[in-house]
Amino acid sequence: MLPTASATQTGKKLIALTFDDGPGGPTPRLLDGLAARGARATFFMLGQCASNAPKTVRRAFLEGHEIASHTYSHYQLTAKSDETVLNEVQKTDALLDEILGMDLDYLIRPPYGSTNAHVLGLLGAPAIIWSLDTLDWKYRDADWVCGQIVQNAYNGVIVLCHDIHSTTVDGALAAIDILQARGYEFVTVSELYRRRGVQMNDGERYSTCMRDESDIGGVEAPEAEVSRVLGGYQLTLTSAQDAPLWYRFEDETVFHEYSAPIVIEGGQKVYCYAAFNVNGGRSEATQCTAPAAAVAPVLSPAAGQGAFSFVLQAGACVRYTTDGSEPDASSVLYTQPIAAFDGVLCAQSLCPGGAGQAVRYTACIEGWLLLDILEQRSLEKTCGVAAALGICAALGR
Ligand code: NI
Repeated sequence: MLPTASATQTGKKLIALTFDDGPGGPTPRLLDGLAARGARATFFMLGQCASNAPKTVRRAFLEGHEIASHTYSHYQLTAKSDETVLNEVQKTDALLDEILGMDLDYLIRPPYGSTNAHVLGLLGAPAIIWSLDTLDWKYRDADWVCGQIVQNAYNGVIVLCHDIHSTTVDGALAAIDILQARGYEFVTVSELYRRRGVQMNDGERYSTCMRDESDIGGVEAPEAEVSRVLGGYQLTLTSAQDAPLWYRFEDETVFHEYSAPIVIEGGQKVYCYAAFNVNGGRSEATQCTAPAAAVAPVLSPAAGQGAFSFVLQAGACVRYTTDGSEPDASSVLYTQPIAAFDGVLCAQSLCPGGAGQAVRYTACIEGWLLLDILEQRSLEKTCGVAAALGICAALGR
C-alpha cells in the first residue's frame, strides 16, 4: 500500500546502508551505534547466521531496521538448480518468520549480486543490488570504509557493507556522523523506495533510487487515546497519514496489526506504530500506559492497640463503611487508624484509574479483624482461636 499524496520536495537526502552476510559478532555494536544516531539500515541476513543469532535478529527488527534475506548458504544462485534456489530462499524466509514470530515479506539480495532473468523469476521478492560497493571485506580498515561512503554518497544511494567486520562498523558509524551533519537521513531500502513513491515488484532488480529525488516524507507516529471502559481501558489509534497501524505490548517482540480499538489492563504499557511496511518502515513509537488500577486495601500488620489501620497504595485513597454496606465515593475517607468496634468493616481503594475490589472484615472490639467470616459470627467470641487458625487479618493487641 502506497500513500497517494503527491510527491513534494522536503529537501531530505536519503541513503540506504545495507549490511550483508550477518548477523555477526560486531552486529550488536553496530545496532548500538545506529540507535544512538537515530539511523536505520537494512540487514541482508544469511539464514545460517540468523539461526545462530535469533536475539540479534529480533533486536534489529525491534529497533526499526529492515530484516532481509541473503539466502541460507550464500551459493551463487545462477549456478544452481531451480530446486536449490527455491530452497535457499524459502528456508531463509521461514526461519526469519519463525524467529520474529510474524509472517513477513523479505527483500532479497542474491549472493555476489549474481542474477539472471530466470533466477529473478524464482525469487518471489524484489532483488536488491547496490550502487556503492565499499569493498569493506577487502580493505579491513575503518577509515577506508568511512571514506568510501562519504566520498561517494548521493541522494538515493544503496551502500553495500558487511556487518561481520569490526572495521566496517567503525567506518560506517563515522560516515553516518559526517553525512547526517550534511543533511542525509539513513533509511531502510523499502523506506527509500516508498519515500520516492516507487512501488517495488517481485522479481525485479533494484540498485539505486535516484529518480527525481522527491521525498513524500517519513511515517509519523500515530495518535493514541486511552479511555476507561468496563473491565479496563480502551486504546484507540489513528494515523494522520492513513497508514496501517500496529501495536505491541511492552514484554513482546511480536507486532499486532490494529484494526479496531483494543482493551488493555490498568498499568499495561503499549507501543504503537504507523507503518506502510512494518518490517523496516515504521514510525517512531507512541508509548502509552493505562493508569494503574486500584488494588484491594491492605491492612497494616502493625495495627495499633485497639485500632485498625491500612497501608495506602501509592496514588490511592481508601474509603470505608462500618455498617456492612459496600463503600462508594461518598463513604468515609480513611485518614487515621479506625477505633476498634464490634461489627463489619468494609473498605475499598480508589485510584484515578478506578476503584479496586472492596474487602470485608469482621471487626471485634478487642481490636481483632477477621477476614470474610461473617457467616461464622461465633468466631468473634474466640479471636484467639481465629488467630491460631490463621484466619485473622490483623491483630489489634
Ligand atoms: Ni554476501
